[in-house]
Amino acid sequence: MGGLLKSSIAKKFAMALSGLFLVLFLLQHFSINFLSVISASVFNDVSHFMGTYWLVQGLLQPVLIFGVIFHFVMGFYLEYKNRQARQVKYASYKGNTNSSWMSRNMIYTGLVVLAFLGLHFYDFWFPEMIHKYIESHPEDASRYYGELVAKFESPVRTGLYVLSFVFLALHLYHGFSSSFQSVGWNDKYARGLRGFTKAYAIIIPLGFIFIALFHYINNL
Ligand code: HEM
Repeated sequence: MGGLLKSSIAKKFAMALSGLFLVLFLLQHFSINFLSVISASVFNDVSHFMGTYWLVQGLLQPVLIFGVIFHFVMGFYLEYKNRQARQVKYASYKGNTNSSWMSRNMIYTGLVVLAFLGLHFYDFWFPEMIHKYIESHPEDASRYYGELVAKFESPVRTGLYVLSFVFLALHLYHGFSSSFQSVGWNDKYARGLRGFTKAYAIIIPLGFIFIALFHYINNL
């Protein structure tokens, strides 16, 4: 068991599982944020529920934060190990012969998404944690919509968000479809799902771009 956990196959497996978990989170996150385009009051209600329900705050949120940290720490580690292996074993490694730009640059597209998360946490998550748990303001179920919309007043921030979502698409385009293979699922059903994973990788980031631009334009 110890040997298995240490093996790089187990690490790739864990990397893929954490990626699949984050793919699910993205769908949930997108669905809730999309409500802000449809109705301010519904968005406020759902955000208030997510922000105050003990199961979400006490269990799902810590699991999510762990999943995010695990995914990028393991990503750095596997990249480091891959580079070591390439130097030793494949002196004439030609990266572009049978792989896509996306698959060869997962670490760089991932780094852009990580930088985005830094900005995004600064924008939303840290203020939210300070508001609720440090300054302990009384609950105000109508504040979420205004706080979100205010972030998209700045063209620079909106531009950075949009650019990051393009990199998110590039990252997901390879990551989501290859995760099935990494967890050992590679039969005809898994191959059949490839089209769905590629569509997801484009549609969800495009949806996030739409939300950001919608609020930016509405603010003009
Ligand atoms: C237009 C696009 C987006 C908007 C408007 C948005 C909005 C928000 C808001 C309002 C929060 C604070 C939630 C809270 O009350 O704690 C949040 C948290 C978060 N966002 Fe986003 N988000 C967007 C895109 C993304 C993307 C693309 C990712 C991942 C790549 C992401 C990852 C996260 C994470 C990990 C958190 C912290 C977890 C949580 O508490 O929900 N977001 N986002």
